[in-house]
Amino acid sequence: MIRPAPPTLKTVRDYAALSHEDLAERIWWRKKDLNAVILGHNYQDLEIQAVSDFVGDSLALSQEAADTEADIIVFCGVHFMAETAKILSPQKLVLMPDPGAGCPMADFVTGEGLRKLKSQHPDAAVVAYVNSSADVKAESDICCTSANAVAVVESIPADRPIIFVPDRNLAQWIIDQTGRDNIIPWEGYCHVHDDMVLDELEFAKEDHPNALVVIHPEARQELLDQADVVTSTSGMVRMAAEHDELIIGTERGLVDKLQKDYPEKNFIPLSKAAICGNMKANTTAKLSWSLDHLRFEVSMPEEIRARAETSLQRMLEISGGWQAPTPEQERLEMAGIRSKGCGCA
Ligand code: 13P
Ligand code: SF4
Repeated sequence: MIRPAPPTLKTVRDYAALSHEDLAERIWWRKKDLNAVILGHNYQDLEIQAVSDFVGDSLALSQEAADTEADIIVFCGVHFMAETAKILSPQKLVLMPDPGAGCPMADFVTGEGLRKLKSQHPDAAVVAYVNSSADVKAESDICCTSANAVAVVESIPADRPIIFVPDRNLAQWIIDQTGRDNIIPWEGYCHVHDDMVLDELEFAKEDHPNALVVIHPEARQELLDQADVVTSTSGMVRMAAEHDELIIGTERGLVDKLQKDYPEKNFIPLSKAAICGNMKANTTAKLSWSLDHLRFEVSMPEEIRARAETSLQRMLEISGGWQAPTPEQERLEMAGIRSKGCGCA
């Protein structure tokens, strides 16, 4: 029998003392009362994923944030993801359980730094990876995610230079895929992916010679050159459903989750050390506290939000909104036939 809605407690510490079952029940009640939706990134802990209404990669989460009919969005991910939700759904209250969950890659570039680079390349189009602040998105012509970066860049005339911020590794991968020589990359990177090295991949391949290698495009070029498939986190989730053995180059939490979902299969982390501490800052205790206290609100000046929205909407139009891959796209991806395919929806 379901018990009545539990009373609000005072501090996060009070919530942390509760069992997971109690927290899950509180979260369920409060979500219902508030007409709230919980969006969780693929890197979130299993307990957070279990109470999320929707789990996905940056592209799918952006689309979900734009489409949801809830009044409140609680974003379990990092700051730029919650900001993206607010940009796309300005009339909704967007909350983050832990405002300290930032993305060090996004912090590589500021609006001011980007304005300076734009003044040196006045003819260039600006493509901003969604792992960037609202300010940077507002200074950009169009956004992209790891799932649609190649399609976004290919939508820009081939002779037009492109400033690409902030991920130099994703920029390099796009250069390799498109053959363009007019991309000016910002020198940012994700330390979680950039720290993965060839030696680790070689050891994993020695131990598992029949495993397909799938790597996130935030990794370095020398690793991506060795991958059978380069794809976003949701592309990896789809591949796990179809393959018995994969070496997976991305945040460790996703690999552990896939192994838990498919205990009979063998999913090997390319690097055991690839952990994003920022993503892991969220907990179910903080999430429950956040819903009960309606904190921490994510907002930005309307002038910045409106300009950032244009860049995000252009991206969503190019991706045709988020759509599940067709059976044919899925078959090719699963077979690893679209070697280095973008996993784009
Ligand atoms: P995805 O868009 O592939 O989920 O990646 C987001 C991210 O932050 C990877 O580090
Ligand atoms: Fe940012 Fe890297 Fe963490 Fe993704 S894994 S949120 S890019 S620091």
